[in-house]
Amino acid sequence: TPVTVDIRLSVNRDEHPITVDTRETLLDTLRERLDLTGAKKGCDHGQCGACTVLVDGRRVKSCLTLTVTLDDREITTVEGLADGDTPHPLQTAFVEHDAFQCGYCTPGQLCSAAGMLAEAAAGWPSVVTRDVSAAPRLDDDEIRERMSGNLCRCGAYVNIVAAIGEVAR
Ligand code: FES
Ligand code: FES
Repeated sequence: TPVTVDIRLSVNRDEHPITVDTRETLLDTLRERLDLTGAKKGCDHGQCGACTVLVDGRRVKSCLTLTVTLDDREITTVEGLADGDTPHPLQTAFVEHDAFQCGYCTPGQLCSAAGMLAEAAAGWPSVVTRDVSAAPRLDDDEIRERMSGNLCRCGAYVNIVAAIGEVAR
């Protein structure tokens, strides 16, 4: 028998009291029940990053995250990145740099990049040099490594890195 739990899910600053099956993933909750289809189901196995969203500002793969664990946490999806009609600077940069082709990976790339900028601002050490004594410089190598969990089948990587780099610097 399925086990269900009542939780309060906060998504893009909207509260959703919701009853969830304990096996339900955040990706399915967002897409199937809240009509937030920005996060994409690429692999459903944690391998592509198309489903990336932010939980309390940290990036997570929503296909690997059980909704039941998110009571009272703040979830931000790609639909919540813009500030009203003003796009997030990353969204503007992606357009200016032509950082997508089919666009399927783009919501995940954007959320992941937003999480990455927050990690850098919080002084997380470089994942390239492993130097813990200084805040990381977000050069292209650092961006590529930190974004390595987000695949792009169209191979728009050069422009994705350029767009993120512009915002990062
Ligand atoms: Fe979640 Fe691919 S759908 S990582
Ligand atoms: Fe097509 Fe990235 S733009 S998968």
